[in-house]
Amino acid sequence: MNSRNDLPRLATQQPARHPAPTVKAKRLAHLIFERPNLDEAARFLTDFGLTVSHRDADTLYLRAAEPSPYCYRIHRAAQARFLGFGLEVRSLDDLNRLSGIHGASSIEEVVHPGGGKQVRLIDPSGFIVEAVYGQSPSASLPHRPALQFNFAQEQLRINDTQRPPVAPPEVLRLGHVVLEVADYQATCAWYTQHLGFIPSDVQVLPDGTPIVTFMRLDLGEIPADHHTLAIAQGFMATYSHSAYELVDADAVGMGQRVLRERGWKHAWGIGRHILGSQIFDYWQDPWGDKHEHYCDGDLFTSSQPTGVHLVSPEAMAQWGQRMPKSFTQPKLSLASLRALIRNLRRSPDLSLRKLITLMRLFG
Ligand SMILES: [Fe+2]
Repeated sequence: MNSRNDLPRLATQQPARHPAPTVKAKRLAHLIFERPNLDEAARFLTDFGLTVSHRDADTLYLRAAEPSPYCYRIHRAAQARFLGFGLEVRSLDDLNRLSGIHGASSIEEVVHPGGGKQVRLIDPSGFIVEAVYGQSPSASLPHRPALQFNFAQEQLRINDTQRPPVAPPEVLRLGHVVLEVADYQATCAWYTQHLGFIPSDVQVLPDGTPIVTFMRLDLGEIPADHHTLAIAQGFMATYSHSAYELVDADAVGMGQRVLRERGWKHAWGIGRHILGSQIFDYWQDPWGDKHEHYCDGDLFTSSQPTGVHLVSPEAMAQWGQRMPKSFTQPKLSLASLRALIRNLRRSPDLSLRKLITLMRLFG
């Protein structure tokens, strides 16, 4: 009974690639957070493998080994909160076009390390998107090269050993960010229409309702990460996790050892994902927000068609620790309960039935 009709199908308009997006974003440049304690944030993130690059009284910037001046910006604030992220675009003309969309700022000078110009946008779920052009690069940071493997049929390492250093694994770059949103259709449509994101793979309920969309950048013939942005159906707009590329699987393993020895809270891993194929390990920061180490992700060019798959906890990894229930459990508070009730009434993409189906699947 494996006819073509048994394959899952998408029952909604979105996600779908847009035939003529406003611009095609080039790179995920940075994330923007608010935190009540910058020292505590720096302690976790440097144990995780990032490096503090700039700091002033109320702002902390961290970077990876790649030449980007920063990939993680933290503003001091009373409450811990994820605000949004930055995307590099290709030209001033791109900024001009983006400044014309609903709710966009005009073109502004960037006051953060690397400078350049930006347009600030707000997506339909309320996340900030800073479209950046003309940022000056910094010098790359050194990192250890990938280990050389002795495969059974290809032996390259003779009279030599594997001894990666027992230290936080150097993060090479910020890889992707995953958001949960209530307004799924509008938010997916906005990223495909205005920033050129292409849905790589979609996970759907048995009735074809999309639950998670993994989206890549449209770099044409240049291979792009399987996902730079992923959008999951939730009951409110919130950060799910962000992911950072390491040099090899031993760096992922060493990251786990170091973060465990330093007392941080583990979230899930090590395993290998199915959609995107990354070898992954997830850790919680001091505010319970998940940060993923990964290596060996899939790369797609723009010609690869969108895949549709049934969603389930088993569909999250090929091997490794089973996804713990705590991984998808929302942080419940008075504010999130209020958001749940408000969004159930308001969002066209949310129904009690859908939420119960999701809770049964992952609860
Ligand atoms: Fe991820």
